[in-house]
Amino acid sequence: MTSNRYDAYREDTAGRANVADSPERIAYYQALAGLETGALWTVANKIEPWAPRSASVPVVWRYQELRGHVLRSAELVSPEEAGRRVIYLNNPGRRDVAAAVGWLYSGLQVMKPGELASAHKHSHSALRFIMEGRGAFTVVDGHKMTLGANDFVLTPNGTWHEHGVAEDGTTCIWQDGLDIPLVNAMEAGFYAVHPDLNQTVTYPVDDTSAAWGNAALKPQVSGWTKPYSPLFKYEWEPTYEALRRYARTSAGSPYDGILLEYVNPATGGPVMPTIGASMQLLRPGEHTKAHRHTGSFIYQVAKGSGYSIIDGKRYDWTERDIFCVPSWAIHEHVNLSSNDDACLFSFNDLPVMRALALYREEAVKENDGHQVLI
Ligand SMILES: [Fe+2]
Ligand SMILES: [Fe+2]
Repeated sequence: MTSNRYDAYREDTAGRANVADSPERIAYYQALAGLETGALWTVANKIEPWAPRSASVPVVWRYQELRGHVLRSAELVSPEEAGRRVIYLNNPGRRDVAAAVGWLYSGLQVMKPGELASAHKHSHSALRFIMEGRGAFTVVDGHKMTLGANDFVLTPNGTWHEHGVAEDGTTCIWQDGLDIPLVNAMEAGFYAVHPDLNQTVTYPVDDTSAAWGNAALKPQVSGWTKPYSPLFKYEWEPTYEALRRYARTSAGSPYDGILLEYVNPATGGPVMPTIGASMQLLRPGEHTKAHRHTGSFIYQVAKGSGYSIIDGKRYDWTERDIFCVPSWAIHEHVNLSSNDDACLFSFNDLPVMRALALYREEAVKENDGHQVLI
């Protein structure tokens, strides 16, 4: 709104603000502005939209285009200089807060064999999804986890964590996912570097998988009371096997195909208080029905190729591509292969939406539940 116009958001609907400007009213609004105030009816329709209007736009970040640039960062800057060598995903509608979509941040990080980043902690909750390479590991509060492609690992709010690649490994690239924009919007972010720069591994390697990674079996002695998953690492092989088993006996969801949510095994709740994650399988040729819901989603194609239709536009994707679905955008997914399944990893802010009672979902009813391409 320009300074001399105050009626740009008028709506000719009963119950909505509909006040035309006049010289007398403009003078009044200017007097209010001089006192750091304003008349609500000049902005009410803008700040209280009828339905969510995401500032984010759907984007596909193609791995084939990005990979070379990500690897180049390893030649241009050292981990010591950069802290973390990451190429972040910058949604054109959310550049002001470095978000990939909504209130979620994401980036691609690269590490070479023998590199070890310094340990730190922050209020932001984070996850990593391994894209390529051998020998990656993460240490979280003394627990060391070895990581392979399509594994994902948590570094929750307040945990000391550091990442590295073993000397005999290969260059590794992974996707980071964090709630940075959300926590910053809440003005609640703290950051600390570990006093020794690196932490000591105080538990047997991969101990959390041994204790907590057994399907439907909970360790008797745990005492776990923290608000995030004690498992930390979720491996690809058992996840994929679980999806295939589930697909043999269930039709799954009309909107998501066969979808399994990663959960905190101690509670059955989301992996972290601010970020949820899941892996879904689209059967050969599957075309899901369209729906929309609140909550922002970032997908990574863990396997296969296909496309998604988001708000009427087709976005093609193939293995390792990343794409986003903004809150309340209508979406449906298609596996283009007629003989192989496709798998999508995703993370989202649904735990926040649900905790704040803001989750809402709606199916598309017209056109047999599918969007018409625009
Ligand atoms: Fe971190
Ligand atoms: Fe959805």
